[in-house]
Amino acid sequence: MSQPPNTLQVQHRASLREYNTFGLPAVAATLVRLASVADVRRVVDHREYGVAAKFVLGGGSNVVLTRDFAGVVLKVEIMGRRLLREEADAWIVEVGAGEPWHEVVSWTVQQGWPGLENLALIPGSTGAAPVQNIGAYGVELKDRFESLDAVDLVTGRTVTLDAPACRFGYRDSVFKQHLAGKSVITRVRLRLPRPWQPVLGYLDLERKMAESGQRTPDAQTVFDWVCAIRRAKLPDPAVIGNAGSFFKNPVVSPEQCRDIIGRDPAVVHYLLPDGSYKLAAGWLIDACGWKGKSVGRAGVYDKQALVLVNRGGASGAEVVTLARAIQESVYGRFGIRLEPEPVIL
Ligand code: EPU
Repeated sequence: MSQPPNTLQVQHRASLREYNTFGLPAVAATLVRLASVADVRRVVDHREYGVAAKFVLGGGSNVVLTRDFAGVVLKVEIMGRRLLREEADAWIVEVGAGEPWHEVVSWTVQQGWPGLENLALIPGSTGAAPVQNIGAYGVELKDRFESLDAVDLVTGRTVTLDAPACRFGYRDSVFKQHLAGKSVITRVRLRLPRPWQPVLGYLDLERKMAESGQRTPDAQTVFDWVCAIRRAKLPDPAVIGNAGSFFKNPVVSPEQCRDIIGRDPAVVHYLLPDGSYKLAAGWLIDACGWKGKSVGRAGVYDKQALVLVNRGGASGAEVVTLARAIQESVYGRFGIRLEPEPVIL
């Protein structure tokens, strides 16, 4: 049934299974679809929804639903994308938070505004991209970020945040810290630098360059390479439920790194600019023998141990049980506590 545009689209006892890429079962007491900034204000001003507990859902690609939600789930469906302005050293593109991220990447590359190609095929919505500062193959969202608009869920006021205000970190931002659950991102502005330089320092991309013999690939070629690399390693959520990397890559001190190398010299580690080391969580999990294993209907993907998958009909509790078992065995063998990347609800 079509709704008048000035009325909120509300669904009661709404199944969330279709709205999370893990395909986990959960029911929201109320689901409200937000098609505009005005809709966010309608929720804030609403007698009942204004005071209810709220959970903001984007593309549902970074969440593990372990229970039904008694409050209001806000599904962000604000659309629209345009070139906002052209500057001497950048194209500034503005995108509605509900736009699927990969389609935005693909569109910008086709329009001749490159810069997002390393972030191709990351599932989820554009509004969710800054929340966890998505990153892949040497580029993070913060490297291509101009500003965003968010509506405060208590006051209904719109604020514009620049990069310092977002406090981006590795898979982290102010929206995972003190603004968690307090505001809805409505629009994101991206800064695509010109002239464009490809970012090819990542091992997987270096391999593609060597195989193809192309020394100066264009953005479309890098986009195609990233898509091919991801398709070979990561499960398509439309086929096998998952939420991408389940754990963050842990950062340790040089002493801890030496200790772990002492336990297993093959550990994959990268020196960071501040002198600490990032360890490959996928390697640690793999070394503990988890690749391809299952606990109940939740499992560890057989081509990349960092990705937990729904083997069909898993519950959020099964995923969390598997995650805890992995954390215990990695802690037991390496003394490292792995931290989950998705939000666990
Ligand atoms: N490795 C193993 N066994 C495994 C998995 C990985 O030995 O089962 C080793 C690999 O051989 C490699 C190293 O671990 O030497 C790192 O693996 P990979 O290059 O696949 O990257 P990653 O650290 O697993 C991170 C991001 C991904 C991102 C890729 C590429 C995190 C938590 N994950 O994965 O992001 O696509 O780098 O940049 O930082 C995501 O956040 O959801 C995500 C997929």
